[in-house]
Amino acid sequence: MGGGGAQPYFDRRNSKMEWQWNEFQQIGTDYASEAEVAVYDQRMRQVRDIDGENRHIVDLLQLPENAAVLEIGTGTGAFARTVSAQCRQVIAVDISPVMLQYASNIARQEDICNIVFTQAGFLNFNGEENAFDGIVTGLALHHLPDLWKAVALRNICSWLKPGGRLVLQDVVFDWKTDTAENYFTRIVASFDSSSSHLARHIAQEYSTLPWIMTGLLERAGLIIESDQESHEFLHCYCCRKP
Ligand SMILES: C[S@@+](CC[C@H](N)C(=O)[O-])C[C@H]1O[C@@H](n2cnc3c(N)ncnc32)[C@H](O)[C@@H]1O
Repeated sequence: MGGGGAQPYFDRRNSKMEWQWNEFQQIGTDYASEAEVAVYDQRMRQVRDIDGENRHIVDLLQLPENAAVLEIGTGTGAFARTVSAQCRQVIAVDISPVMLQYASNIARQEDICNIVFTQAGFLNFNGEENAFDGIVTGLALHHLPDLWKAVALRNICSWLKPGGRLVLQDVVFDWKTDTAENYFTRIVASFDSSSSHLARHIAQEYSTLPWIMTGLLERAGLIIESDQESHEFLHCYCCRKP
């Protein structure tokens, strides 16, 4: 896998190849109904300042007028709704039909008409090259193993216009000089209201290490402009396509 350039790694017409990662298999928590999504939404709002995070992400994107934005892993659609006021069009994709239904219902209730909700993921979204001024993905990339994160980020770079920005927010673990065991025990204990969710995330999902994430972003052809860390494991990377 070489760096540089912005071509996608593979031709999506070959997407039925047996070596290909199936991103529609659910890794981590699955939501079977909109009622379960509503509970998830409420829990997230207790542990995160979602509106504040979304306003910050919009600032980082530095969008031009009439911007086109892609959000991958939109979940309940909160970011897509926030950014829609500054956009000509937002494409909001997710692999979960239940999430998409929940998100599109809220957008309809709020009379927001410029968001297109589509079932797709990092690996199978049929994006055009150089199409988006901004791409955002929050707490979704960790659903892919690192090999497939590399493919996803290369795709994202190809879909961005030159000068366009990716804001990637995700869980990235770093035990620094401590042991992994001490670190995980400490962060799970400090996260009391959601500790079992965090423990399951560590055990079952594909969050990676900071030096791997920065390598993946750079090798995809992106320039990392900033990397902000909170809660010891939540990173927000702002990257620009040269
Ligand atoms: C933890 S939620 C985060 C939702 C929202 N972005 C946020 O920050 O609150 C992760 C979302 O990513 C979606 N997802 C998982 N794997 C995906 C993939 N390969 N491509 C796109 N979305 C994916 C899930 O269905 C879920 O809606």
